Amino acid sequence: MCLLYEIIIRGLPPHPNPLSEGEGTGIKRRRTQMSERKLVGTNEMFKKALAGGYAIGAYNVNNMEILQGIAEAAEETQSPIILQVSAGARKYANQTYLIKLVEAALATTTVPIALHLDHGADFEICKACIDGGFSSVMIDGSRFPFDENVKLTKQVVEYAHERGVSVEAELGKLAGVEDDVNVSEKDAKYTNVKEAVEFVKQTGCDSLAIAIGTSHGAYKFKGEAKLDFERLKEIKDALKEAGFGDYPIVLHGSSSVPAEFVAKCNQYGGQLPNAQGVPEEMLNYASKHGVAKINIDTDLRLAMTSTIREFFVEHPEKFDPREYMGPGRTAVKEMVKHKMVDVLGTAGHAKD
Ligand code: G3H
Ligand code: 13P
Ligand code: ZN
Repeated sequence: MCLLYEIIIRGLPPHPNPLSEGEGTGIKRRRTQMSERKLVGTNEMFKKALAGGYAIGAYNVNNMEILQGIAEAAEETQSPIILQVSAGARKYANQTYLIKLVEAALATTTVPIALHLDHGADFEICKACIDGGFSSVMIDGSRFPFDENVKLTKQVVEYAHERGVSVEAELGKLAGVEDDVNVSEKDAKYTNVKEAVEFVKQTGCDSLAIAIGTSHGAYKFKGEAKLDFERLKEIKDALKEAGFGDYPIVLHGSSSVPAEFVAKCNQYGGQLPNAQGVPEEMLNYASKHGVAKINIDTDLRLAMTSTIREFFVEHPEKFDPREYMGPGRTAVKEMVKHKMVDVLGTAGHAKD
């Protein structure tokens, strides 16, 4: 493998930092701590979450401030977290930077952290993340016919399991945009119960993302919000009957699109007419009824953007990025804390 490729895929090799040598024990101590704290696998998180009647929040990470907001919220509420990275995030921030930021989160917090690939579109991206040190990956073959989805998922499961990495797969289609994969709303299809069992049997995937009415982004419902919880129960029951026990189900598109963020965006120059998310009571219900992982990205974006929009209007004379990214980070942290305490129920479960 050529050196450049090695660096892109695996990150820079450790090298002595001349600034740290001879600078006393502080830096050395921090370095030791860093190597001691490891990423946690999602399987063990899910087992505890299902037994405890809560769902792990999987938060999308794209930059340092978003990650810091999530990590601080997790530490303050003592919540286990999944930090997830999409293909778009890898393209924007570079996988090596993101991994280093997650290492920093491990070094500065005490809570269990998993690093997960969100919506891996093919085997290659899953492999790159597995080789790069992720503890979990998603292979999203939901755009393919059943048999092709099975084939692709199996290939990833085989590679991942040999390396101790867990795999999330998806069956059924969510409306909206899924990371370079366009699925038009009219093709949106909820997950079939029998197929779900057959899919888990044939692929050996560790968790399954299902379609029961959620969708990505800030416009999830035209009228009243509705999720097919009946179908969730049927899928859970069928998997149990087939010998998979309390099998971990994943819900994508689970931002609640808080009205106050939308109103603030619109008040300060944004245009988000009729934005609507999944009501928090529904997410709370899901977290107590067999959903082990709940994906949140849009709410992070809204928290940060609404805060920065307000700042720019209120302080047109300011231009130091720290002065607006700081409040943006605080807004992310407060929003995530609320999810952990009031919606998903992860607060206090870091030591489960
Ligand atoms: O599921 C989609 C996530 O929100 C990631 O979005 O592809 O814009 O990073 P992205
Ligand atoms: P939201 O757009 O509802 O935040 O969903 C995010 C997601 O599912 C990431 O995979
Ligand atoms: Zn998703």
